Amino acid sequence: MTFEATCTAPVNIAVVKYWGKRDTSLILPTNSSLSVTLSQDQLHSKTTIRASADFVSDRLWLNGIEESITSNKRLVACLRETRALRTKIEAEDASAPKLAHLNIHICSENNFPTAAGLASSASGYACLVYTLSKLFQLPLDASDLSIVARQGSGSACRSLFGGFVAWEMGERADGADSKAVQIAPETHWPDLQALICVVSDEKKGTSSTEGMQLTVKTSPLLQERIKNVVPQRMDEMIAAIKDKDFPKFAELTMRDSNQFHAVCLDTYPPIFYMNDISRAIIRIITEYNRDGIKAAYTYDAGPNAVIYAPAANMAEIYSLLSHYFPGAAFDDSLGLLNNAAAPTTLPTN
Ligand code: DP6
Repeated sequence: MTFEATCTAPVNIAVVKYWGKRDTSLILPTNSSLSVTLSQDQLHSKTTIRASADFVSDRLWLNGIEESITSNKRLVACLRETRALRTKIEAEDASAPKLAHLNIHICSENNFPTAAGLASSASGYACLVYTLSKLFQLPLDASDLSIVARQGSGSACRSLFGGFVAWEMGERADGADSKAVQIAPETHWPDLQALICVVSDEKKGTSSTEGMQLTVKTSPLLQERIKNVVPQRMDEMIAAIKDKDFPKFAELTMRDSNQFHAVCLDTYPPIFYMNDISRAIIRIITEYNRDGIKAAYTYDAGPNAVIYAPAANMAEIYSLLSHYFPGAAFDDSLGLLNNAAAPTTLPTN
């Protein structure tokens, strides 16, 4: 007998960035963070997992190519945690199908460039853990699941919810309080849109995982950020979202992106994620905002820009960017995305 589940999970783009771990194996962050979940229509990971007594080992295919599971400690951690929860269910309920000991086959794909700073690990691990929870019928809510997804990739914990999502850093050494919580659902601020500008879809030079630990080791500016900037910024960002105060939301978003990249520059040796096109986009948006804030840029660990703006401004922003970058730069643009919903379970066939 084969058991099967298929789910999709969304990408999230942080407006208060996570950068730095206090525990690298449990993936516990040095600061809380906050993100907006983007529409799954254009950007998502999709994962199918099958469990069967006929399978001789656990196997994984990513975008159609088989990858080793055993060398991937984070994936092993997600499997171990979800299987342990399933084992508990089977121990308590003799009639529950025996799934925990079966080998599984995992097929996962993204419909956007992997590892180009477009948060593929976030949607990928959120999707893996969500699909495992459906396969194993785990009675967990999204915050509980976020604790498992966090152990795959930190930012993944925020993709378990739609809308506006905080990752509370927590205090405990075992990570039981380091989890995602929803600040507001996607229906709260439907007017807020995101434009993704794919400046480059090449794999990034320094991975987030490596980069952030070098920052933790070498950057004095990071210490200032985590102690004296982020705690207050989280409160202000939550208030701006609750009040749908776009100028405040935008200013905080741009300041936080700027500080994240400043911290990368303060790392020794320095890490550069933005390129000349990324910096040109910052100048264009700054000029566009001269008489009042109408758009916000933000950049993750790569050169691609995400522009947040009210829906009414998007056509103008799109034509402004197309004017400065005729043709090439935005041919690959993923276009307008609403802030949107949580992972979805698809019917199996
Ligand atoms: C710049 O979640 O990819 O996108 O936990 O090591 O897998 P790991 O890192 P990852 O880092 C994301 C960093 C960021 C900011 C953010 O999404 O908050």
